[in-house]
Amino acid sequence: MTKRHACPSFPHFLHGADYNPEQWIHDKSIWDADMELMKKANCNEMSVGIFSWAMLEPREGEYDFTFLDEIIEKVHQNGGKIILSTPSGARPHWMADKYPEILRVNGHHQRAHFGGRHNHCFTSPVYREKVRRINTRLAQRYGNHPAVVAWHISNEYSGQCHCDLCQNAFRDFLRQKYGTIDALNHAYWTTFWSHTYDSFDQIEAPGPLTETGIHGLNLDWHRFVTHQTRDFILNETAPIRKLSPHLPVTINMMFEFYDLDYHAVADVIDIASWDSYPEWHNGDDAIIAQKTAFWHDLYRSLKDRPFLLMESSPSLVNWKPFNKPKRPGMDVLSSLQAVFHGSDSVQYFQFRKSRGSSEKFHGAIVGHDGTENTRVFRSVAKTGSILQKIDEVAGTVTDSPVAILFDWENWWALDDAQGYALEKKYLPTCYEYHRFFWERGINCDIVSPKADLSRYKLVVAPMLYLTGGDVVENLERYVNQGGTLYGTYMLGTVDDTDLCWLGGIPGSKLKEVFGIVAEEIDTLYPVERQHASADGKIHELIDYCEVLQLHGAKELAVYADGYYKDMAAVTKHPYGKGQAIY
Ligand code: GLA
Ligand code: ZN
Repeated sequence: MTKRHACPSFPHFLHGADYNPEQWIHDKSIWDADMELMKKANCNEMSVGIFSWAMLEPREGEYDFTFLDEIIEKVHQNGGKIILSTPSGARPHWMADKYPEILRVNGHHQRAHFGGRHNHCFTSPVYREKVRRINTRLAQRYGNHPAVVAWHISNEYSGQCHCDLCQNAFRDFLRQKYGTIDALNHAYWTTFWSHTYDSFDQIEAPGPLTETGIHGLNLDWHRFVTHQTRDFILNETAPIRKLSPHLPVTINMMFEFYDLDYHAVADVIDIASWDSYPEWHNGDDAIIAQKTAFWHDLYRSLKDRPFLLMESSPSLVNWKPFNKPKRPGMDVLSSLQAVFHGSDSVQYFQFRKSRGSSEKFHGAIVGHDGTENTRVFRSVAKTGSILQKIDEVAGTVTDSPVAILFDWENWWALDDAQGYALEKKYLPTCYEYHRFFWERGINCDIVSPKADLSRYKLVVAPMLYLTGGDVVENLERYVNQGGTLYGTYMLGTVDDTDLCWLGGIPGSKLKEVFGIVAEEIDTLYPVERQHASADGKIHELIDYCEVLQLHGAKELAVYADGYYKDMAAVTKHPYGKGQAIY
């Protein structure tokens, strides 16, 4: 098996943590203790620099790398590796004071003051310049250090900004996309409620003070936020790619994260990584494990190679309604779950628990007692020793016969759709399909509907309501060439500008592929159940019952009640060399 290690310069499992030694700079005996504890915890890696900007550039243009020099060298001397972060996730006070434009403006058009983190405008030329400068220095200084194995860009990119710079960039994005305002008006169907735009200059980001009823606009704003974040990442990584081209670049992504289309940023990173904080022991751990598995599968599929578990808690977190320590054995179990879904690492937030501020009670490998004599420390050390024993697994993934299609644009568009039920249940429905395979030990990739599907035996497209022309082509090609496509209600309802497909759904060629037209959809109340019969058995139906006309498809199940009793509930249709099940 060819191995594709996440960090090629270190072809082993990484076992480590976010490490914030700058918080202890007043007492360097702590740093020395940390090095001993790192080894005792069987850790071989530390992620540093994530929130260090104020220390690295205490005054504008005055850089001071002594702390990072010292800490990287210490970790190196003690046999550890470094994942080096760029510091853009949190900025120094002086910068916000001098350049207020770097701070975010919310949907009520109020500019944030200095504070928190992840509070920056993605468009501000000043911020981009400051980030580029510090990243250049970091790359010059550490980009070829033997201990550094990867770049961790910023921290958990998220959020949006409504400042004038961002609004103008949004208008440019739309100009680029539509060319003329007429084309935009058509795509947005603005004759509805007399919302016709006379020029691009009139366009504003959707928000509480502006327009939220134009679905095409909402969708484009989501796309713009992703586009601008991607552009910001490109700005961050330009000096890094130039000065240390051999090191992989990652951003740490999140669970059920809504704001960014990670498929659309995947091409500007080399490896996927994510921060996983399941709410263990709150109900059925198997269900929680399966949802977590969905995201492990998604991040493995994102770059089609091993990913990194960038953060997890060795114990509890500090931001859930109830913060419960992981039960004995859970750290080993959840860490190995990540590994067996394709992670090349088990990393934690955080190595040493901070003494003050908002995360002082968050789980850490080393607590306020400062020793190795804790249950949590011992369990981390145990996870590390297991990783050492199974090191030959690092760099490998297992092929998946099945792909489930998951799409952020579809998620956003479905949420906007006024009709059906208020709560669309897109993600829960994707989870349910994933669970079917997970329970049977069948590996699943989670991919974009635009991905190359040719290697899969089965492709499942749950609730793929937004189906643009290119996706229609992709699905048609897949079935035509021999694939089995499984679609569900709502497939092919709107195109990629959120205009309804005309002439019957599923839109465009998908009608021929499935041999059906979906005529009506019955939304079920939460307690309501309908039934379908297949193979002499009665099955319970929840959420939606779609009424189908058959145009060549054969029924596999029929409704057993409702006004659509005896009509097709599940169909199958041969098409090209493949088949389409609905
Ligand atoms: C996120 C952040 C970390 C830390 C953890 C706490 O994942 O990236 O800096 O705040 O949450 O769970
Ligand atoms: Zn802005």
